[in-house]
Parts: sequence; structure tokens; C-alpha cells
Amino acid sequence: MLQHSGIGVAITGSGSAAPLTSLDNQGLSQVVDTSDEWIASRTGIRQRHLADPAVYLRQLAAEAGQRALDMAGISALDVDLIVLATSTPDDLFGTASLVQAELGAMKAVAFDLTAACSGFVFGMVTASQFIRTGAYKTVLLLGADILSRWVDWSDRRTCVLFGDGAGAVVMQARSESDRLLGFELRSDGNQNSCLTLAYQPEAKALTSELSVGQGSFHPITMNGQEVYRFAIKRVPEVIEKALFKANLSVEQVDWLLLHQANQRILDAVAQRLTVPPDKVLSNMAKYGNTSAASIPIALDEAVRDGRIKPGDVVATAGFGAGLTWGAAIFQWGN
Ligand code: UT7
Repeated sequence: MLQHSGIGVAITGSGSAAPLTSLDNQGLSQVVDTSDEWIASRTGIRQRHLADPAVYLRQLAAEAGQRALDMAGISALDVDLIVLATSTPDDLFGTASLVQAELGAMKAVAFDLTAACSGFVFGMVTASQFIRTGAYKTVLLLGADILSRWVDWSDRRTCVLFGDGAGAVVMQARSESDRLLGFELRSDGNQNSCLTLAYQPEAKALTSELSVGQGSFHPITMNGQEVYRFAIKRVPEVIEKALFKANLSVEQVDWLLLHQANQRILDAVAQRLTVPPDKVLSNMAKYGNTSAASIPIALDEAVRDGRIKPGDVVATAGFGAGLTWGAAIFQWGN
């Protein structure tokens, strides 16, 4: 589908990065009362990469971004816009500009986008709007999170799930085609309490009449069963809507690329959509749930090992805190 402006989007490069240090389920069982058997059978996760205190999000993101630029065959100075999807910034004022500085992408404008585990899909749609209107030609879209800094490491219901990492894609303007075939984005703040990383203000009196709220962020809280139910209901729906907009059937999808939260969610969504298991990309055994990074890391691995080929149709969907969820259908490559 080519938009009225006649300018379409192509996804021309991918990259990813993860901290060198990893912790397997056995190691995690020394931190909280859990076991490899419980984690692997309930989630499919076997290990996760964890950033040591000296690692900054901007470094992981820049590493992934540089790899995506290299694959696309362009330099950082060719980038017009950097969108960084993250919920775990180095700086709440914004980390995208720090990634810009790391990369030397000094002709770009850079901003953060927050939509938790849906951030990469929301970012892909956001970036494509700037391209389709003709405003920008080349976008570096990054999904990066260091959730190990925000989980409660004494809460076995959440800390076993998450890992750290970054992924990136280059999106470029094309006059002859549009590879973003359809999308659907949703959110529902009424269900926000299912999954939170919330600021808790505490009253601090400035004068006898005036107080301000000075507190801190509390670690991640999650109602796992609620989020599970939400995901297996809403994700198939949103993919079906995006496919409808793309005028494609499920049979025409080459790869189902879901946010890597839980293997059981991937299996249930694939089953509902009648997508066979060999079309479902999964790497959570190695990384756990890396939030905004999970989709681009899995994409990059599948592109680099030759599973995803130019022209393949990828149905991707993110879901998570907000609550937010969304799907995008795209064709890989020029
Ligand atoms: O990207 C964000 C999206 N988040 C998600 O997608 C998460 C969606 N939810 C899930 O993936 C699953 O709900 C979980 C993997 C989080 C939990 O699986 P579950 O099958 O829903 O387990 P549960 O919460 O019902 O807990 C079952 C039992 C409980 O024990 P009792 O009360 O039955 O005695 C828990 O205390 O498992 C216990 N448990 C654990 N045991 C060992 C919970 N966490 C652990 C653990 N190790 N890490």
C-alpha cells in the first residue's frame, strides 16, 4: 500500500547488542527461591543477559544502532531521526540524544518514546509517519531496556522474567514501494495496575503552606495471570486487524515475531492464529524478556542467520505495560 505522498518505507538494516554477562536459571536459584524447572516450563527462559553497573543504556543502544547502520550500508551522518523506545532511560530527560552523541549522528534529531514492551512496534509506526510525509528520509529506530535496574530482585514472580539488551532497525524512504503493509496500535489505561513501574511521591514540606512530592520509582509490580490473559486475547486480535489493513491472510505471513515475554504466550497466540510453530521466532531462552529490545533482537538474529530473507512478510506484535499493545506487518529488506 503506497500512501498518497507516494513515499513508502523500507526496513534496510538491523542490529542488536546484549551485555556480556549472563545468568542462567540455576544461578538465579541462588538469588531467589526458584528452579530451572519452574522457570523453563512456565516461561521457556533459560538465561538472561544482565548489564553490570558500568554499562549505560546509551552504549548498548549505540552498539545495536551502529550494527544496523552497517547492515544498511549508511553512516551515522545519513540519519535524519533517531527514535529510542525505552522505559529504562539513563536520563529521564531523554536518552536518545545521548545515543545520537555516541553514534556521531549529528544531523539527526533524537527523542525517546515510552510504551514499555510495545515500544518498538509503536516506534516503527511513529517513524514510518515521518517518512511517509516526506519529513525525513532515514530513521534509526532503537528498542533498548535495562530492566535489571528496575526489578525487585527479591520478588521471584517478576525478577526471573527479565533481561537486558538493545536492538535496532534502519528505516528508509522509498518512492517505488512501501514495505510497512499494515498496523494497529492500542492502549488501555484502565488496566494500568496490572504492570507498573510507578513513581511514588512523598510529601516534602517547603514552607508551612507548601509541599511538593519528592519520592522515588518503586520496582516493577505485575499481576502475571492478568497480563497473560490480556496477551493471549488481545495480541491475536490486533494482528488480525493489522493483516486486514494489509489485505493479507495469515497464510501469507512468513514469520510471526512477537514480543518475547513467555513461550506459552507465543504458542497460544500462534495457535489462535493458526500459524505453524516453524514460523514462530523465539529466542527468549537466551535473553528472557528484554522489553522494547526483544522484537528487534529476535529480528536481527533471524536476519543474520538467514531465516528471514528479503521480501519475507513479518507479522510483529508488542504487548505490555500501559497496558499497550500493537501489531505491524512489514516486508523485510529494500
Ligand atoms: O513484557 C511484559 C509482559 N509480561 C508477561 O507477559 C507476563 C505474563 N504472565 C506470565 O508469563 C505468567 O503469568 C508468569 C510466568 C509470570 C507466571 O506463571 P503462572 O503460570 O501464571 O504462575 P502463577 O503466578 O500462577 O504462580 C504459580 C505458582 C505460585 O505458587 P502457589 O501460590 O501456587 O503455591 C507462585 O508462588 O508458582 C509460584 N511461583 C514460582 N515458583 C518458583 C511464582 N514465581 C515462581 C518462581 N519460581 N520464579
